Amino acid sequence: MDNPNPYSSQHLLAELFPPDDPLEESGSLQDRPLQAPAAAPAPVTKAGPRARRASSKSSKVPVKGPAKAAPAVATPAATPAATATVRSQVPAAAPAPQAPVSDPTVPSPAPWEQRERYRALGQVVAVVNQKGGVGKTTSTINLGAALAEQGSRVLLVDFDPQGALSVGLGLNPNEIEVSIYDLLLDRTVSLPQVVVPSRVPGLDLVPSNIDLSAAEVVLVSEVAREQLLKRCLEPAQKIYDYILIDCPPSLGLLTVNALTAADSVIIPLECEYFALRGMALLMDTVAKVQERLNPELRVMGIVATMLEARTIHGREVLSRVGEKFGDKLFKTVIHKTIKFSEGSVAGVPILNYAPSSNGAQEYRDLAREVVGRAS
Ligand SMILES: Nc1ncnc2c1ncn2[C@@H]1O[C@H](COP(=O)(O)OP(=O)(O)O)[C@@H](O)[C@H]1O
Ligand SMILES: [Mg+2]
Repeated sequence: MDNPNPYSSQHLLAELFPPDDPLEESGSLQDRPLQAPAAAPAPVTKAGPRARRASSKSSKVPVKGPAKAAPAVATPAATPAATATVRSQVPAAAPAPQAPVSDPTVPSPAPWEQRERYRALGQVVAVVNQKGGVGKTTSTINLGAALAEQGSRVLLVDFDPQGALSVGLGLNPNEIEVSIYDLLLDRTVSLPQVVVPSRVPGLDLVPSNIDLSAAEVVLVSEVAREQLLKRCLEPAQKIYDYILIDCPPSLGLLTVNALTAADSVIIPLECEYFALRGMALLMDTVAKVQERLNPELRVMGIVATMLEARTIHGREVLSRVGEKFGDKLFKTVIHKTIKFSEGSVAGVPILNYAPSSNGAQEYRDLAREVVGRAS
């Protein structure tokens, strides 16, 4: 695109990490088109450190073809990654324009700081529950999509080695060359190299794959091992309004990293008989992180998921959760519907797969509650 949107997250990323060479300037990160064309989208191509290490080999992260029922979804045809690949193939050219001479004693504000109205909220929210299958990934994707739909810039961080969030947004985890693992443990990797635009406007992601399962072992010997993710996400807070971290189903070092990086926690709780089992341990972990690593951390709320409204049992569980957690329980309840699984298979959030479904509406309501509680 000739006129990239100067307020898009991609453009701001490019500003935050200024290019080292003039070519980077000409291939500046571009905004995405708002409508998906009828044709299959171009693959998202990553030219990250591993690809560079392998010199001639350029890596590909293809995104599945457009879902047939995804009208508002944009194609990632002009992604930063794609542009990066183009850059790597073009020989050196024109020099960068000269910057105006300024007084070196006066620190000049960074470009994004000059734009008061686009200052990002920078809220980091960890979506946590050590139980698997309670709706963490589904909630991260759909809450993120709903926040983006309502005008926020959103970054989703896939922090589960199973990579379900990346898959749910159409990526093939085996083809991800640069992931959250590299960002965490390779100091030469910076945020723009791992951020992939999703097919939803305003919604980007940092993908993950099985590489991350090694991180827990490697992290043990790192200095300030609990703070690595926090350090990685600090620049993202200047660009995105919401950064949602999809945690793995454990309370290990990865989850502790997420809690240390977060301003707040959302806990999805499946409305089933054993829902409250493990909650004490989870709350205890949050309290310990609060005490030792992140005093600002708070529990934003608990979201009841997969409620089968027709069964008495589901409603009983919900009322018990309400009694126990009071105001911490979000008013919005997510009901059980097959549309969520169908959306994951299609590689898009339910908001795009079935925009007028109850499930989509529920996540829009949840997003409004989150905005209210975050500010
Ligand atoms: N509200 C819901 N109704 C029906 N199925 C759901 C709902 N939320 C999630 N699921 C499905 O349940 C499974 C587990 O959800 P997921 O979000 O992956 O949980 P977690 O990340 O906690 O392991 C997935 O197959 C997902 O599609
Ligand atoms: Mg998950």
